[in-house]
Amino acid sequence: MNTVVIGAYWGDEGKGKIVDLIAADADWVVRFNGGDNAGHTIVIGDKRVILHTLPSGVLQGKNVAIGPDVFLNPESFLKDCQEVVNKGFKIAGKILIDERTHLIMPYHISLDSSQEASGELKIGTTKRGIGPAAKDKASRTEDITIHDLLQKDFPKRLYAVLRAKKAELAERGIIKDEDELAKYSEAIASRYNKYAGKLRPFTGSVAYELNESIRHGKSIIVEGAQGALLDIVHGTRPYVTSSNTTAGGAFSNLGVNPREFTILGVAKAYPTRVGEGLFPTELKDELGRQIQKEGQEFGATTGRPRRVGMPDLVALKYSAMINGFDAFAVTKIDVLAGKKFKAAIAYEKEGAITARFPFKLDGWSPVYSDKEYYFERFTEQQAIEMAGQGYDSLPDPMKEYFRELVQFTQVPISMVSLSPKREITVRKNALQRTREHLQK
Ligand code: GDP
Ligand code: IMO
Ligand code: MG
Repeated sequence: MNTVVIGAYWGDEGKGKIVDLIAADADWVVRFNGGDNAGHTIVIGDKRVILHTLPSGVLQGKNVAIGPDVFLNPESFLKDCQEVVNKGFKIAGKILIDERTHLIMPYHISLDSSQEASGELKIGTTKRGIGPAAKDKASRTEDITIHDLLQKDFPKRLYAVLRAKKAELAERGIIKDEDELAKYSEAIASRYNKYAGKLRPFTGSVAYELNESIRHGKSIIVEGAQGALLDIVHGTRPYVTSSNTTAGGAFSNLGVNPREFTILGVAKAYPTRVGEGLFPTELKDELGRQIQKEGQEFGATTGRPRRVGMPDLVALKYSAMINGFDAFAVTKIDVLAGKKFKAAIAYEKEGAITARFPFKLDGWSPVYSDKEYYFERFTEQQAIEMAGQGYDSLPDPMKEYFRELVQFTQVPISMVSLSPKREITVRKNALQRTREHLQK
């Protein structure tokens, strides 16, 4: 079976954990979007690995691929490879990077930081150069792909690109004059030529490889970065990232047939957000601080504290609609243990009520369902037992909340994660899912 894994909120839902888990049955694990703005954490036994670009399936020894819509920072990619080895894992499968993949260049990072520092148009980016690299990609002329990097005339092309950007680079204080521009270009070309040697053996066509794999009945997991509400089109613009984070983006950007895939939405038990941008169910009280602390909600890439909120079914239903989720993997429900919580089922603004997720969130406040949920804390040992015994062994109030979530979003739950650890996850079998679906 081929699966696309998508974050259902604003990122950091636990995609890394879920992809690592289901990668056990896969031949290929593929990243389709974003860049090293992502941080995916995988916990196996007492080892904790954070990957920014390499797909999480690498820890299961699977073949991994990086698709053409990813923005690749070569240095960060090589660090990911090192992280895997340093933590005692082997890169046992192939690594394939599409030659169409765009490179993050040093000036993208400088421009991103400088735009964020200027204040007025700040959106709270990760400062990894994603926005400026995406702008260049859309320009079609000022971009650098891996293919460009591997050509003999790469230094010439880079210099031409930098000359086209001269005014912007000068205005941002990155270069002063023509002389400095030439030196800047040479220094980058020499650094990136070293990366060229390292990346060359990995490059090829991801579209051909995946389509051949599908034809031969092999299994593919597509790993999304960020979350649906950070999508450049359907997200909470302008507080979004610069790529398609939704399932449709996976198909168009990888060049694969959507009918060959099921779509799994990773729904954290509660939403979190990093950076700017409103968030209707945000908790600014003691409960929020408690969830942040117990859920260890600090960015895997920037270390920034993540803002946390109450479960938001309006947002999840929207996310399910724009992605076409076949099922949810619910993560971090253990963090809500010992806390009273409710779920938002509508938004209200000046007396108007809507169950639709608005484009602009200003002024909208959440309307919560009457039901309040509470279940007792459980130990790791109890979580292991529940994972072994299956869905029915979960606490009744937790299952009651899941019923509300499924009824509201019309998306069944296929997995419940109870811990950062790979094996502490409840997986529902297809029979159980069908039975529940028929009972709805
Ligand atoms: P991603 O970007 O979607 O891969 O998510 P991150 O790795 O950035 O953030 C998710 C965090 O939650 C990581 O630290 C995971 O180890 C952790 N995590 C994942 N699933 C669970 C879970 O079910 N329970 C708890 N307590 N932590 C989890
Ligand atoms: P993973 O894959 C959470 C957010 C940033 C910022 C906005 C734009 O780990 O879920 P960018 O650097 O992309 O231009 O920043 O997007 N953002 C993420 N938030 N998780 C991520 O990735 C994110 N990647 C980008 O915080 O608000
Ligand atoms: Mg993350």
